[in-house]
Amino acid sequence: MPLVTTEKMFKQAYDGGFAIGAFNVNNMEQLQAIIDACQEANAPVILQISRGARKYANIAYLKALIETADRQSDLPIVMHLDHGDTFETCRQCVDDGFNSVMIDASHEPFEKNVEETGKVVEYAHRHGVVVEAEIGQLGGIEEDVVGVDDVMKHVTDPEEAERFVKATRCDSLAVACGTSHGAYKFKEEPKLAFDVIEKTGKRLPGFPLVMHGSSSVPREYVDLINKYGGKMPNTMGVPEEAISRAAKMAICKVNIDTDLRLALTAKIRQVFWETPGEFDPRKYLGPGRDAMKEIVRHKLRILGCAGKADLCR
Ligand code: G3H
Ligand code: 13P
Ligand code: ZN
Repeated sequence: MPLVTTEKMFKQAYDGGFAIGAFNVNNMEQLQAIIDACQEANAPVILQISRGARKYANIAYLKALIETADRQSDLPIVMHLDHGDTFETCRQCVDDGFNSVMIDASHEPFEKNVEETGKVVEYAHRHGVVVEAEIGQLGGIEEDVVGVDDVMKHVTDPEEAERFVKATRCDSLAVACGTSHGAYKFKEEPKLAFDVIEKTGKRLPGFPLVMHGSSSVPREYVDLINKYGGKMPNTMGVPEEAISRAAKMAICKVNIDTDLRLALTAKIRQVFWETPGEFDPRKYLGPGRDAMKEIVRHKLRILGCAGKADLCR
């Protein structure tokens, strides 16, 4: 089926108490792993492309890969810009055929964020594209933006979120509730700010919220990376129970990138370590792709979106 926007998916996710997985794509193996897992689970999916991915892979290649995946499957698939930094980046993606764009001006003061987001909404809506915005700040690193140090000090203010959505008419909102990007999120079991999700949800009934920085940083993959010559100090991600809990609330989209990176890296390291003579990329990218597929399959169950593709067509 043709690529879709998030509109129907989010309505179903909101009403049904589940969330859609939004996975980052930079190359063919990641895309195939995600699509195969979603196809087997009959799950709707958001494929997201960051500015870094655009630069790395060239959007023409990524778009052709996604369109091919779309033709090969009968899934509802969204092509989404992750963390667009300016109106210009978002405009480019709308013109390139994305179905959904994120404008992330969350590091700007409130009024400037409203202004930038409003401009993107106006342009995107004119072209039938939906817009995710962000208010509050996450930790970790995304592209060249270094997040805040103390994530709990920068959680979203629910009253501000309500004013922001009403002023900008954005279609979904990323809220900061204590998560951060990357593999080094927490040193011990974290407590997320569920009250932020709950209070924001109450102020914006029926409105879809988004959770970024939602990788769980599985211990087994960190251990494999370290066993086969990597060096990843002790770290923890977002517990899966927290993700399931958020998915039952107003969170309709959950962003996951790092966990797939870890799975791919762990498998590549293992092949290199065990067979140092290997030089055929298919022999290490293949096991990496299988491991990413397994991760995605598992996430779809945690998010509750397995089996939900038919509802979102
Ligand atoms: O938000 C960050 C995503 O993981 C994308 O990361 O900007 O390195 O592609 P990237
Ligand atoms: P992770 O780094 O936790 O996978 O988060 C990815 C993300 O939020 C992409 O926008
Ligand atoms: Zn993010």
